[in-house]
Amino acid sequence: MYKHTKLLKVDPEQFCAEELNEACRILLNGGLVAFPTETVYGLGGDALRAEAAEKIYAAKGRPSDNPLIVHIAEKDSLSEVTSEIPEKAKKLMDAFWPGPLTIIFKKCERVPLSTTGGLETVAVRMPVHPVAMELIRSSGVLLAAPSANTSGRPSPTKAEHVMEDLEGRVDMVIDGGPVGIGLESTIIDMTEKTPVILRPGYITKAMLESVIGEVAVDPALLKKPDGHIVAKAPGMKYRHYAPKGSMYIVEGQQENVAERINQLIKEHRDRGERAAVIAAKESESCYPLEIVHCIGSRKNEGSIAAGLYDILRKMDEIGAEYIYAESFREDKLGAAIMNRMLKAAGYQKIYADRSGEERR
Ligand code: TXA
Ligand code: MG
Repeated sequence: MYKHTKLLKVDPEQFCAEELNEACRILLNGGLVAFPTETVYGLGGDALRAEAAEKIYAAKGRPSDNPLIVHIAEKDSLSEVTSEIPEKAKKLMDAFWPGPLTIIFKKCERVPLSTTGGLETVAVRMPVHPVAMELIRSSGVLLAAPSANTSGRPSPTKAEHVMEDLEGRVDMVIDGGPVGIGLESTIIDMTEKTPVILRPGYITKAMLESVIGEVAVDPALLKKPDGHIVAKAPGMKYRHYAPKGSMYIVEGQQENVAERINQLIKEHRDRGERAAVIAAKESESCYPLEIVHCIGSRKNEGSIAAGLYDILRKMDEIGAEYIYAESFREDKLGAAIMNRMLKAAGYQKIYADRSGEERR
């Protein structure tokens, strides 16, 4: 069903609460408002009303077994969604909230199963973005908010991305400019004896361990899903973030990577196929100008995270049939960057240091 989507521009550095009045009214009436957070744009609805969650699934075209994150603006609100807060979770909240960390708790009865995708646990996050915080505070509504993209598309890092996907399907989009981080929050499950990272993000394993000691990583994150290991965050099992073209991550010494990519591009050109390259600033000049897209600098991982989803969307805009991406270090924020890139590529890799048949 088509509805008019209102676009509201708000300057995150300088706005007053009244500017959000209409957005608050929509939320209080059970409607949907997309809003900026520090990670990606979210699609918000009342987390404690089953029908709002159902509207979110419908607008995104998202499978309803994929649970939503509940966004709060004050730590005290946690008592509305869980009655069990483990000691270690308190330490994480003190260290990283507000900020890009989602924590999984046992849910209490008030939280509808449609919000949690049928699970007895609930994911909670306190965003640090001023517009997100003010929206939750002024409306008094705890916001169930998945990323504001159509299911399967890259998460939105600008309001334009949200409009591309959801115009006509939601009541309002609040445009607060481009987000800061550009990758979704880290998710940690605190309902297990050893806490487990279910999705890597800006808050790294080392940062978490410096506060609560040993933290495990969901084994499903480290390799291609094969049916034996199932991701504990239901959303991680879907092919996400994916551009329409066939994407490959090319690994190896930089000069071998550039040589292999250029050779593949030539082959595509000879066949009349449209190929594109995703490269770091330091090496973009190794590729033909008209098909290379700069993702950010290797000296600043944050710039790569912030540029990733915009570039993946651009690949669809230009109709790239084949996409070759340079690979990045997997430590620190790199773990989250490579996790999203590998998913976007459907885990297809090319090893440029070896010769012969090595596409997999
Ligand atoms: O940065 C973010 O987290 C953004 C912004 C808008 O806050 N939100 C976001 O939501 O990325 P979404 O719905 O795109 O991703 C939520 C992920 C999914 O993979 C989902 O399966 C997982 O969190 N999740 C939610 N509740 C869960 C639960 N109770 N147990 C395990 N995984 C859960
Ligand atoms: Mg998402």
